[in-house]
Amino acid sequence: MFTTLVTLLSLSSLSLASTSPLLNHDFPDPSILLDSSGTYYAFATSLLSTSPQKNIQVASAPSPLGPWSYIETDPLPNPGSWTAGPGSLTWAPSVIQLSQNSYIMYYSGQLSGNNSAYHCIGAAKSTSPTGPYSPLSQPIACPLSLGGAIDPSGFYDPVSGDRFLVYKVDGNSIGHGGSCGNTVSPQISTPIILQPVAPDGMTFIGEKVTILDRTEEDGPLVEAPDLWYDEPTGTYVLFYSNHCWSEQGYSVNYATSKDLTGVYKRASKGSLIATGDGLGVVAPGGASAVVRVGGDNGKNRTSIVFHGNCPEGRCLFGVDINIGVS
Ligand SMILES: *[C@@H]1O[C@H](CO)[C@@H](O)[C@H](O)[C@H]1NC(C)=O
Ligand SMILES: *[C@@H]1O[C@H](CO)[C@@H](O)[C@H](O)[C@H]1NC(C)=O
Repeated sequence: MFTTLVTLLSLSSLSLASTSPLLNHDFPDPSILLDSSGTYYAFATSLLSTSPQKNIQVASAPSPLGPWSYIETDPLPNPGSWTAGPGSLTWAPSVIQLSQNSYIMYYSGQLSGNNSAYHCIGAAKSTSPTGPYSPLSQPIACPLSLGGAIDPSGFYDPVSGDRFLVYKVDGNSIGHGGSCGNTVSPQISTPIILQPVAPDGMTFIGEKVTILDRTEEDGPLVEAPDLWYDEPTGTYVLFYSNHCWSEQGYSVNYATSKDLTGVYKRASKGSLIATGDGLGVVAPGGASAVVRVGGDNGKNRTSIVFHGNCPEGRCLFGVDINIGVS
């Protein structure tokens, strides 16, 4: 007899009560790090409308659900000589901790000159989670003919002990128009790539694999990948966003696999968080998962942070999620 295992994600009813932003700042494309000190750090896309401008934003908290404190320093004062420089569009950072005083930030840097319509993936090192991070002199992933690359996210696989980078090939940047530049035929693919990296977090080793790509139901794109391993169910969960970030259809979705390299199966119930659902967040996207140590009664929980529309722009939200098997 065959048993079908389906991993179901749902939002914790505890968190459903609170749907207001955790930080009243424009803080798009957040990612979360649990530092070895026990402090949580969230990182977000550049803020160029303020003086001084920030290439990357950072905030800290004792728990993913807050209270969050905005940190006024720019963790990435220089996005690298291969970018258009400080004050250019630096998007969707992700930070991993390699050891006690060793951190890597991945980010999407804007190219200069004739290539300024494109982004590529950079990496930068720091001895402190809040920086300053020093960039490498070259991007680590830059498939320009495919549209460049954005939305990097580091993943440590607890099963193999190996490190990976996931990112989006930014196909819609070379699309033919419409929503996010890619709803006019012929539509360009926006694959989500899984790239094995060495223990240094930056050296690419082994073959990259495409673990997801856009289909008709996604609109112009899939993007903002974030991988999570659920130990109790032995399941890899790939969070991603689809539709266009500037429209209400942007949403948080997930696909699951028993193997890291896939095949990732999309949730049959559709989006995890979307405009108009019970959570009440408009245009949610950019989810990033983390363990919430100690939970509410000493038992670890899984939380995600993500962004949603707010008066300031796109604010930080967070909820607990339940991962179950039926
Ligand atoms: C940028 O494009 C223009 C027009 O195609 C060309 O003349 C120029 O050489 C290019 N610059 C660089 C740095 O490639
Ligand atoms: C809770 O999570 C922390 C951080 O990952 C881990 O060190 C700890 O062992 C976990 N506790 C339990 C009871 O699983």
